[in-house]
Amino acid sequence: METTLIILKPDAVQRGLCGRIISRFEDKGFQVVGCKLMKISLKLAATHYESHQGKPFYDGLVAFMTSSPVVVLALRGVGAIEISRKMMGATFGSKAEPGTIRGDFGVSNSFNLIHGSDSPEAAIRELGLFFSSGELLDWDRASQGWIYDLSSGTPE
Ligand code: RTP
Ligand code: MG
Repeated sequence: METTLIILKPDAVQRGLCGRIISRFEDKGFQVVGCKLMKISLKLAATHYESHQGKPFYDGLVAFMTSSPVVVLALRGVGAIEISRKMMGATFGSKAEPGTIRGDFGVSNSFNLIHGSDSPEAAIRELGLFFSSGELLDWDRASQGWIYDLSSGTPE
């Protein structure tokens, strides 16, 4: 099982799209193990996007991410990192395929609705930035045995 960090960016919150986006992840079979509304500080945005420091879009990106509240989610599932990135679609709304979150809900290249960790290392780092350990809950999901085939002992 993997856990990934998803951020519903300020445009998703302001446009009232959080419920519909979270529904897509629930429909797919991911388990929500962390969820909160928060305002990202300048310091946290800078740390989160430190790999983009110095790039032309960096200042605008940090201003956008700190402009209004976001919803942060920790989503758990087999292959959660790669599958959720596929569900998000390409970075720019103008390029993202229909059927993806960015492809269906937006057209802007800057306001692209959602962030998702892009590797296991990034997921561990980002979950640690946005959630304290007590905010992530290991809970038994009643539907788990119908979302995955658990007969072999590992979820298939
Ligand atoms: P994210 O980190 O937000 O999940 O997005 P991503 O992996 O698809 O894209 P990434 O390359 O990590 O870029 C982070 C965010 O910076 C903005 N961006 N603007 N104008 C540009 O060329 C440009 N490139 C990236 C986007 O908001 C992107 O989500
Ligand atoms: Mg990225």
